[in-house]
Amino acid sequence: MPSKYVIQGGQTRRGCVRASGSKNAALPMMAAALLAKGVTVLRNVPDLSDVRLMAQILETLGCRVTLFPQPGVVAIDVHDEGPVAPPYELVSEMRASFCVLGPLLARRGEARVSQPGGCTLGERPVDLHVKGIAAIGSEVRFERGDVIANGRPTGGRVYLGGPMGPSVTGTANVMCAAALGSGITVIDQAACEPEIVNLADMLNLMGARVSGAGTSRLVVEGVAEMRPCTVDVIPDRIEAGTLLIAAAITRGDITVEHCDPDVMPALLDKFCEMGVPWEKLDATTMRVNCPGRARAADITTLPYPGFPTDLQSPLMALMCVSEGHAIVEEKIYPERFMHVPEYRRLGAEIRKQFNTCIVTGVERLQGAPVAATDLRAGAGLILLGLVAEGTTEVLKISHVDRGYENFHGKLGSLGAIVRRVDYAPMRRAGDRRAA
Ligand code: EPU
Repeated sequence: MPSKYVIQGGQTRRGCVRASGSKNAALPMMAAALLAKGVTVLRNVPDLSDVRLMAQILETLGCRVTLFPQPGVVAIDVHDEGPVAPPYELVSEMRASFCVLGPLLARRGEARVSQPGGCTLGERPVDLHVKGIAAIGSEVRFERGDVIANGRPTGGRVYLGGPMGPSVTGTANVMCAAALGSGITVIDQAACEPEIVNLADMLNLMGARVSGAGTSRLVVEGVAEMRPCTVDVIPDRIEAGTLLIAAAITRGDITVEHCDPDVMPALLDKFCEMGVPWEKLDATTMRVNCPGRARAADITTLPYPGFPTDLQSPLMALMCVSEGHAIVEEKIYPERFMHVPEYRRLGAEIRKQFNTCIVTGVERLQGAPVAATDLRAGAGLILLGLVAEGTTEVLKISHVDRGYENFHGKLGSLGAIVRRVDYAPMRRAGDRRAA
């Protein structure tokens, strides 16, 4: 049954909350467990629907996955190394499933993974993944909508720069494929995201030889064997950022524990520009105490360490109630503005042209029913619901469940009045179900 959030807006939020583990680190790391027979244990994994889906995909690939025997723990036992083709029904539900391509190919010599279709963020091709895998000596072809890769990687030079910058999961796929193989692979224009560093650290714990993670040149020396490992997933910088924005938007005082301020340079720089006071309480604790109204500031999304596209809609939510005008330019996913019409339903003033929006901050928003169109759009709508007068209902909350662990519980612990409610979908004309 679908769920919605019912939010009573208008109050300041205060308190302390813990960031969960990173979704975008955990998903490729779960896939990387395929590189070694035996039990790999991941800690600090968030309990999210995407994580559960990845577990299901790994089960179809001969793994026994134990989800959350203790909080945050996922154990992946690779016991049958036969299957090479996860089913389309599962893969089509989540783009990150494509991350099994590299590990499967390297370990099993073959992989057959459906090409992901477009999604609400627009067209999301996999040409860079395919180019990278081909450049390190494997054969790649397309058949009936699948990408089929054959032959263990032998190393080579790969350039992963695309029109929108390097690909994050493309870097993960090529790095995993090259790790268990022969020869040396040099990846230029590799993604520098902290999630890639986390994955590289995991591969090295498994016996791989990866250097340069976090820079645009990665060097991978193939090894003949890898072993299972126990590894910690890094804190989720996007969730932490969203919670800090919640403090600014509600003119509250929120402390986020178990986060890493060093991987949020662009957001913290924007906070300075916007007059949002933040402080680092210790190496893993951040606080935003923002009694006043923020000033609008322009943002342009870019690959790390630039401003992350995944925080574009949450920060745009803050712009909607800030003082002045902001230009928001989306350079990673030019079509990632599906949230704009929903923001307008709450009274936001936004003009959009191609990949750019101009936001004029308003003093007041009015609660209304709105629908999440994707994960981060949903988070932005919830943030707006916290400040809109009256009640805001955010429908299609399953999008938010993909990437924010127990979000309504966390917001509730900060004093927000948020209820999660199941609702029956409306009957449609021609619906044959009994009335
Ligand atoms: N691109 C290509 N060719 C490719 C791959 C990507 O042109 O072969 C383009 C994309 O269309 C896009 C840009 O390159 O314009 C960046 O895409 P990237 O491949 O880096 O995205 P991704 O790896 O599929 C990850 C995150 C996304 C996040 C992006 C950008 C995971 C599981 N997903 O996706 O997370 O937005 O990097 O930082 O790591 C989210 O969490 O809400 C989310 C969408």
